Amino acid sequence: MAFKLWSIVSLVALAAVASAAPSRRTVCSDGTVVPDSVCCEFIPLAEALQTQVLMGDCGEDAHELLRLTFHDAIAISRSQGRAAGGGADGSMLIFPTVEPAFFANLGIADSVNNLIPFLSQFPKISAGDLVQFAGAVAITNCPGAPQLEFLAGRPNATAPAVDGLIPEPQDSITDILNRFDDAGGFTPFEVVSLLASHTVARADHVDPTLDAAPFDSTPFTFDTQIFLDVLLKGTGFPGLGNNTGEVSSPLPLTNGTDVGELRLQSDFGLAHDERTACFWQGFVDKQDFMASSFKAAMAKLAVLGHNTNDLVDCSAVVPQPKPAVVPSAAFPATKSAADLELSCNSERFPTLTTDPGTQETLIPHCSDGSMDCESVQFDGPATNFGGDDDS
Ligand code: HEM
Repeated sequence: MAFKLWSIVSLVALAAVASAAPSRRTVCSDGTVVPDSVCCEFIPLAEALQTQVLMGDCGEDAHELLRLTFHDAIAISRSQGRAAGGGADGSMLIFPTVEPAFFANLGIADSVNNLIPFLSQFPKISAGDLVQFAGAVAITNCPGAPQLEFLAGRPNATAPAVDGLIPEPQDSITDILNRFDDAGGFTPFEVVSLLASHTVARADHVDPTLDAAPFDSTPFTFDTQIFLDVLLKGTGFPGLGNNTGEVSSPLPLTNGTDVGELRLQSDFGLAHDERTACFWQGFVDKQDFMASSFKAAMAKLAVLGHNTNDLVDCSAVVPQPKPAVVPSAAFPATKSAADLELSCNSERFPTLTTDPGTQETLIPHCSDGSMDCESVQFDGPATNFGGDDDS
């Protein structure tokens, strides 16, 4: 399905909801009780996102929409002032040929193009609301994800953000923590909490020879596996070994489209830096603590650049996520506590089971275990850096 809607994006931008009305408790047509009728509009949007893009899956399209919530929102700077970026303002969708072309946004074009058609399908919903709501809906397909808070009424972006505000995996931990602080006063604990997102994440562009290289061994469930896997001793690389921002992983075994685990230098750094190591380790096998901490940090991220008094709490329209899997972390087959490299000595490491098997875990390419997964990719104005629109 191809959509070429760039020409009408600016019209939609003008029509979008720009401010929240005073509180008026309403019952939407499906029976959901909301503080204001503006919330009801998001119920058909959730359905449309599921049927047209997500297909109820925690696959590539869901992962990309979650990443987009971050890359849209973090583009704001307290030190550089408002001209640098408006935070969670949908600027990625309103200016799809600008921000998605920044190097740190490589691959973001896919999610931008997948969302742009919804601006005209739901003209009362602003681009900033669409980005954050789509991410909240996307992760409901990932077992164990929290039901995110969702506030509506973000005005549309009036300018794109400047380049240089998105953290990159080769950045030092000091630079990463400073960037999050500069964007919205995030604490080191909140930064680690946000990194729970990498439990449903795969890289297409860190190693150009690999497609969808997962960051943990269970990329289709919102569990605590990422926090365990990053603490296991690295043994090799799933593809080439000299990529910027990548360090060796404990599960490099690759077979066809089943690509071994890829470890980001930044995740490794956060797992071992003295300012963050105990927070990182503290999430291993603590599903509820991890999910609630992620939810709280995402609530802060999703409103960057806005006064929450101007927004309406539409959390009631966020669908119920799929229930968590048990256990929320286990040593991959052939790994054990002997493979741990820990930097936090003040916390006791939990006792975990080891997955059965005598060979190194091979991570499935698709959530149903198949090699060729269903995914949509709408055409659109946003292109990946260097013209590679493929992921
Ligand atoms: C230190 C901060 C962070 C760094 C350096 C970082 C870096 C990266 C990189 C390099 C990728 C791979 C992109 C590709 O090659 O396709 C990625 C993927 C991803 N990131 Fe992050 N990230 C950070 C924080 C976050 C946060 C806060 C979120 C969300 C709240 C997030 C969500 C994701 C998701 C969901 C993906 C997977 C996208 C996909 O599978 O297509 N990241 N990240």
